Amino acid sequence: RIVVLDFGSQTAQLIARRVREQNVYCQILRHDIAADRIAELNPKGIILSGGPSSVYVDGAPKCDPKLFELGIPVLGICYGMQLVCAALGGKVDNTPSREYGRANCTIRNNESLFRDLNGDIEVWMSHGDQISSVSEVFEPLAQTSTCPYAAIAHRTLPIFGMQFHPEVTHTPQGGQILKNFVIDICGCEGTWQLGDFAQAAIDHVRQLVGDRRVICGLSGGVDSSVVAALLYKAIGPQLSCILIDNGLLRKDEQAMVIREFGDHFKTDLHVVDAEEQFMATLEGISEPQEKRRRIGYAFIDCFKAEATKIKDAHFLAQGTLYPDVIESGADPDGPAATIKLHHNVGGLPDELGFELIEPLRDLFKDEVRQLGLELGLPESLVWRHPFPGPGLAVRCLGEVTREKLQVLREADSIVVEEIINAGLYRETSQSFAVLLPVQSVGVMGDARTYDNAIAIRSVKTDDFMTADWSRLPYDLLARMSTRIINEVAGINRVCYDISSKPPATIEWE
Ligand code: XMP
Repeated sequence: RIVVLDFGSQTAQLIARRVREQNVYCQILRHDIAADRIAELNPKGIILSGGPSSVYVDGAPKCDPKLFELGIPVLGICYGMQLVCAALGGKVDNTPSREYGRANCTIRNNESLFRDLNGDIEVWMSHGDQISSVSEVFEPLAQTSTCPYAAIAHRTLPIFGMQFHPEVTHTPQGGQILKNFVIDICGCEGTWQLGDFAQAAIDHVRQLVGDRRVICGLSGGVDSSVVAALLYKAIGPQLSCILIDNGLLRKDEQAMVIREFGDHFKTDLHVVDAEEQFMATLEGISEPQEKRRRIGYAFIDCFKAEATKIKDAHFLAQGTLYPDVIESGADPDGPAATIKLHHNVGGLPDELGFELIEPLRDLFKDEVRQLGLELGLPESLVWRHPFPGPGLAVRCLGEVTREKLQVLREADSIVVEEIINAGLYRETSQSFAVLLPVQSVGVMGDARTYDNAIAIRSVKTDDFMTADWSRLPYDLLARMSTRIINEVAGINRVCYDISSKPPATIEWE
C-alpha cells in the first residue's frame, strides 16, 4: 500500500484516487502521524499532500521528520515538497512570482520520476510559496520559467518533491508521473481491486461488530444502499435499517426504497412517516442554512425516536463520503471551510450514544458505485443520481410548503423521465428541477397567468466538487418545458441553469 499524509484541502483525496487508479491500495492518514506508526503499517511509499498553509507560518501542519529516515520512498507534492526541503535542506520563500494555473515544465532528468516523459510537459501549479534554493543533497529534475525547482530528487535517499500537482487532470501526464513513483520507485505491483476494498471492509465490520446490532439509515440513495449492502454481507440479520420519509422525497420514492429493500436486504426495516414533523419545523423558514439546520435536527429527533425502539443497537452506520467530510469542514485531520451544512455528517452518533461506522468515508462517488456493483446491487440503483439529505427542501427555494413540494415533485419527475427517455441519465451526473420563488406573467388560452417558474438543473461532474452544466439538446429542453408547463399546475415558465460549479453550487440552496 501507499499512504498519503493529508495536509488539508482536497488534494489528499485526489492523490489517493489517482493512486488507486494504478490498482494500488492507498490510505489517507493524519499529517502528524508518528513515523513509528507508519513503519508498523509498512507502506511501500509515502506521499505528502499539498495544503493551504505556508511551511514558515507558526502552527503550520508538520509531519514527523523521522519518516524521512524510514528508508521508504517519499514524494512531497507542493506543500509536501516544501516540507521535504524544510526538513532536509532547502529554503522556502513567499516569492513574488506566485503561480496559479497551467505552466510549461521542462524536464531535465527523465529517469525515475519522469521516466517515459521528455522535453516540456504541461503542469498545473497552485502555490504562493516556492523553493528558492536547495542544498547539495537535492538534484533539480525539472523547472518552469518562474520556478527553478519544479521537481527535485534527493541524491542518496528515495525522496522526491514536486511543486506542481500531478493529481489534477490539468496535469495531463500526472498519471504517468504518479505511476512512475508508485510502481517503479516504490515497487507496488498494481494488482489491487475495489473488490479487495469490499472484502477488507466486510472483514473489518465483522470483526468490529461481533455479535452486536447495527442501525443503518436508508435514503434510497446510492451511498446508504451501498453501506447497507456491505453491512448485510458482513453481519446479515444483525442489521436494522430505518427509512425516514420526511415528506421531502421525490415522487414515489418511499415505495421504491421499500421495494428495493425487499429485493436486496431481507432484514429488519423501519419506515417512519414524518412529513408532519418536518413541515411543522420548516414553517415560515426561508433562510437556506436555517432550513438545513432544522431538517437536520428533525432528522435526529425522528431517527432517535425510532432507533431507541431497536433495543440492542450499538452501532450506527452512515454513508458519508469524503466530499461530504471536507465540505462540512468536519474532517478532524485538516482545515477546510464550511460551504454548506450537510446534515448527514456529525450530530447523530453523539446524540444517540452510538458508535459510528462509516465504511465509505475514504471513497469518491464513482468508487462507491463500483463498489455497489461488486456487492451485487442493480445498475438502476447504483447509477441513481445523488439526492441531498435535506431533499426537495433545498430545491424549493424560500419557505417550503406541501403545495410547493407537490408542484416541484411533479416537475422534477418530468425532468428525470425525459432525461431517461433521451438516454442521457447516465451521461448526466445529476438532473432535477428547482422551484423558484418568483412569479411571472404568462398567457394560457385567453387568460393571463401569474405563476411560478421552474429551473432545470443538469450537470456533469466526476467528483461533485466541480461541475459543468450539461449541454442538453434543445429539443429535449423544449419537451421538458412544454410538458412541465402543460402538466404542472402553477408553472408558466421554465428556465435552464447554465452555471458551473464553482462559482455556483449544484444545488440552489
Ligand atoms: P453542492 O450543491 O454543494 O452539492 O454543489 C454537491 C453534491 O452534494 C449534494 N448535497 C448533499 N448531499 N446532504 C447530502 O447528502 C446534503 O445536505 C447535501 N447538500 C448537497 C448535492 O446534491 C450534490 O450531489
